[in-house]
Amino acid sequence: MPNSPVLTKGQVVPIPSSVMRRALGLTIAETRHSTMMVSAGSEQGRNDLDLGIEALTQATLLTQETGMDWDAFFAVHRDLPREGPGLAEDVAWAGQLIGISPQGFVCDAGCGPGGDLAALRQLVPHGRIDGFETVSHFVEAAREKFSGDPSVRIFEASMEHLSGPYDLIWSAGAVYFLGVPRALNAWRSALADNGAVAFSHPCLFTDTPSEAALAFWEAEPGSIETEATTCAQIAAIGWQVLATRTLSDAAWTAYYGPLLTRCDTLEAAGTSASVAAAIAAARKEASDWSAVAGQTGYVLYVVRPV
Ligand SMILES: C[S@@+](CC[C@H](N)C(=O)[O-])C[C@H]1O[C@@H](n2cnc3c(N)ncnc32)[C@H](O)[C@@H]1O
Repeated sequence: MPNSPVLTKGQVVPIPSSVMRRALGLTIAETRHSTMMVSAGSEQGRNDLDLGIEALTQATLLTQETGMDWDAFFAVHRDLPREGPGLAEDVAWAGQLIGISPQGFVCDAGCGPGGDLAALRQLVPHGRIDGFETVSHFVEAAREKFSGDPSVRIFEASMEHLSGPYDLIWSAGAVYFLGVPRALNAWRSALADNGAVAFSHPCLFTDTPSEAALAFWEAEPGSIETEATTCAQIAAIGWQVLATRTLSDAAWTAYYGPLLTRCDTLEAAGTSASVAAAIAAARKEASDWSAVAGQTGYVLYVVRPV
């Protein structure tokens, strides 16, 4: 494996072409829902790459392949209540399922702008919440939501390195940045006795998906699985699935509704060509989702080490 490049925290670098990425042993994906992620193709160089994640997620990047201007992307993905599908009732379902105590200690891993913090606070009104997020303006938005509450702390740091001990690690639409086995292996030691992880994750609802359903996820990190194959991945690393729940159409509307409204607002105010392109991409994603919603979506998994 060739040496991985050394990325310094704060450094802004162009994303290499797919040919170069393969040569470097990197996986770099531009996600539809929020940001981009770098993970090493080998253990070698992983620390350098982890440092690079923050640099890369701060945008100012152009991809040579897509021509996507990430400043423009984050101009659209700003001031939104959430950065992926989900509802407060999904949080409540997971909390009730594991019987979390009102004094519980919860982590929101990949919390984005903090869309689930209020629902998590309802679960643990006398407990504590830690959020972890790597995109600065999401961190600021999440911090603002509970700025007067010292029991809610938001860290601008990778969710991969948690200490806990948490009664619940909640992660809405973020585990796929690491991959299910890597995330669960990393979080095992951060759970309290009888603690659990609840994460929502892309899923194919059919073994014979259309090309459009597969294309919907093609920019995302990792392969797209069915519920059965994700459950098999979970079992293979020594965890049990307590329950699963498919996210509703309303959960997707909670994400796309405000996103489309923001697109309207930006357009009405007048935008640059690059922001107009980012708006078009957001509109296309929402429209593509409507077309494939019966075949693919998110499933919420509640899991615990065996
Ligand atoms: C699809 S968004 C979901 C955000 C939020 N959970 C929600 O539902 O609104 C995924 C989030 O995970 C964050 N993320 C990705 N990799 C991360 C990492 N290693 N550590 C912390 N956050 C990460 C992204 O920046 C993004 O905000």
